[in-house]
Amino acid sequence: MKNLTVMNHPLISHKLAILRHKDTDGKAFRELVSEIAMLICYEATRDMKTTPVDVPTPLMTAKCHMITSEKPVLVPILRAGLGMVDGMLTILPAAKIGHIGMCRNHDTLEPEQYYCNLPSDISERTVFVLDPMLATGGSLAAAITLLKEKGAKNIKVLCIVGAEVGCKKVLDTHPDVNIYLGVLDDRLNEKGYILPGLGDAGDRLFGTE
Ligand code: PRP
Ligand code: URA
Repeated sequence: MKNLTVMNHPLISHKLAILRHKDTDGKAFRELVSEIAMLICYEATRDMKTTPVDVPTPLMTAKCHMITSEKPVLVPILRAGLGMVDGMLTILPAAKIGHIGMCRNHDTLEPEQYYCNLPSDISERTVFVLDPMLATGGSLAAAITLLKEKGAKNIKVLCIVGAEVGCKKVLDTHPDVNIYLGVLDDRLNEKGYILPGLGDAGDRLFGTE
């Protein structure tokens, strides 16, 4: 699928195996979501622009490259996207953070927006949308539509587990965005949960049911 990058890395595979396990507790689950987000961030930032700089080492001047002009903003989709913020900030400590609240209606599976707070300069920033789960794709497609209405132009989506149908929906609706995905799963069940998946990410992160 064009604009879909699925991570293929032993570190992510290993961490995903533990993340999926039904007996993994909340503490480990939160740590793993954060660590996997950090690893996906490495790939999602591959095209960041650098500027040449001269650095005086103790011995001589080294020709180096630094990221000076990039202005990232992280936009977690509440609630579960919050679990990815710390890992992302480890790599991008200067990023601003916006929030979008999106809740999937349990009966219709349609997304319902309940919150939006974004930096005013979002149109000048690379937007990293964070949500561990991409199921039908309804929540992400709606969040991206909202971000574009607010001026966002350069949008990258980072998810941990995704279903093909959802990836297709997001990219059909928004062919200009790029999705970076930890793993592509088989299908959805009748309640819209990803199979094999990992269950309800928000509940596992925050201990609710
Ligand atoms: C989950 C998940 C995504 C959405 C994915 O959130 O974090 O936002 O469902 O489903 P979709 O691709 O079919 O739209 P949920 O609505 O359960 O809210 P929560 O994060 O507050 O638990
Ligand atoms: N949201 C989740 O948290 N898990 C799924 O499998 C689908 C949507």
